[in-house]
Amino acid sequence: MKRQLGLAGLFLVSLQSYASPNSDLISQGEYLARAADCMACHTQDSAKPYAGGVKFELPIGTLYSTNISPDKQHGIGDYSEAQFSRAVREGVAKNGQRLYPAMPYNAYAKLSDQDIHPLYTYFMQGVKAVDQPNRDNDIPWYLAARWPLRIWNAINAPHPVDSSPSSEQSDPLKRGAWLVEGPGHCGACHTPRGWMMQEKGLTAASKSYLSGAEIEGWYAPSLRQLPYDAAQTALILKSGHNATSAVTGPMSSVITHSTQYLTDSDAQAIGLYLHSIRIESNQQTLALQVSMTDPDKNYLRYCSTCHGKEGQGTPNVIPSLHHNLLVTADNPASLIRVIADGAKTPQTLGQFSWSMPGYHHTLDDQQLAELTNYVRGRFAGKHDKVTASQVSTILSSH
Ligand code: HEC
Ligand code: HEC
Ligand code: HEC
Repeated sequence: MKRQLGLAGLFLVSLQSYASPNSDLISQGEYLARAADCMACHTQDSAKPYAGGVKFELPIGTLYSTNISPDKQHGIGDYSEAQFSRAVREGVAKNGQRLYPAMPYNAYAKLSDQDIHPLYTYFMQGVKAVDQPNRDNDIPWYLAARWPLRIWNAINAPHPVDSSPSSEQSDPLKRGAWLVEGPGHCGACHTPRGWMMQEKGLTAASKSYLSGAEIEGWYAPSLRQLPYDAAQTALILKSGHNATSAVTGPMSSVITHSTQYLTDSDAQAIGLYLHSIRIESNQQTLALQVSMTDPDKNYLRYCSTCHGKEGQGTPNVIPSLHHNLLVTADNPASLIRVIADGAKTPQTLGQFSWSMPGYHHTLDDQQLAELTNYVRGRFAGKHDKVTASQVSTILSSH
């Protein structure tokens, strides 16, 4: 049987070649850094890899990623391996400060000690030091205190760091799970977030995990309902397209910097794993029924998760649809716009803003009209009907 040279293979090779142990460790670390896409978030200027400065718009302000090149003054050149490990897997910087979860340490917690060692070696010896100071974050002082992150971590970060030698997994399903949940941090974009911005589930044990989420004005679809098999998934991860689909937006950057470098067997392992955690349910039939215009199902599918089956909402966070001024209004224009384009509460002192996704990309004008009619009828007793052409007129007038 042909040996598939994944990380496990590289690891064995590194044990065997006494001549230049570090170059093997370095390439093993580089492979991991790519699988973990450290580049995407830590490189603003491609001429200065890992020098940081990438901007993150958080609900509380603007954060910039830091320089993780081995520069001693501005980078992480004087991080010990233990300090590096703590930053990457637990979200605690060298100076003891908690890192914002924009750095996906809750996923990286799945890296084992045997992964951290080559990763650290790569950053210290395989990356060029870049003398670029970190940018100050633009977060108002009253929100900049990092201590609440300790509480956030206590609630949301998976605890004890898993030190099993994950890189030696030979079972493709386990390997795939580890790549997706761990270094690949696919959930950072594909898992919906809860009210504290935490991912609703870090493993397939949760139904929300990878079930699709809005991210930076994009929708990262459910990875548990991919309309193609493991081989086609591997293909899209390596090349950005496959027989029936192609990616764009944030996913193309993931592919450019990260998944295209996966070995064929690792890409295939991801495909197998995603296939194994499919939520079969009757989503397919549900989708059919939905396109057969059943507004009741559309309400359950798209609105009830937040507004509740009875439209009651969550006090102070999610508006109730009963007595809502937009729903009871004679003119349905704002309601249509909210359903189509979403809505966002203003950001105020110490308060995250809450937002609702828009459904213009999911529902066509006819479905939007029927859903609008359903919401108005059910929650406001309004029985005049909005038509698809009214919806289209409203949405084209800005
Ligand atoms: C999704 C974006 C993202 C990815 C991917 C990412 N980081 Fe980060 N990282 C950040 C952000 C943002 C910060 C700054 C957080 C803060 O200031 O609280 C950070 C901070 C750090 C720090 C602390 C640095 C310091 O100045 O003390 C280290 C070390 C680090 N990252 C290493 C890595 C490594 C290694 C990888 C890949 C295994 C990686 N990061 C992947 C976003 C990311
Ligand atoms: C930075 C955010 C981000 C991360 C991280 C991310 N994705 Fe995506 N992904 C997206 C978005 C947005 C889309 C939808 C864009 C598209 O399909 O063109 C997408 C689409 C996809 C698709 C569907 C392509 C299609 O249209 O058929 C697959 C498969 C996929 N991602 C797999 C993964 C896997 C596996 C990982 C982890 C290794 C991952 N993604 C990590 C944002 C992300
Ligand atoms: C991810 C959670 C979420 C989902 C799903 C969701 N909403 Fe909302 N919705 C919110 C939040 C949060 C607000 C408050 C935002 C605002 O109004 O600024 C809101 C506001 C509204 C409002 C009031 C807007 C206003 O400004 O008064 C209406 C009406 C509404 N949603 C209807 C719907 C309908 C219909 C659906 C299904 C198509 C839906 N929502 C799906 C979270 C959600």
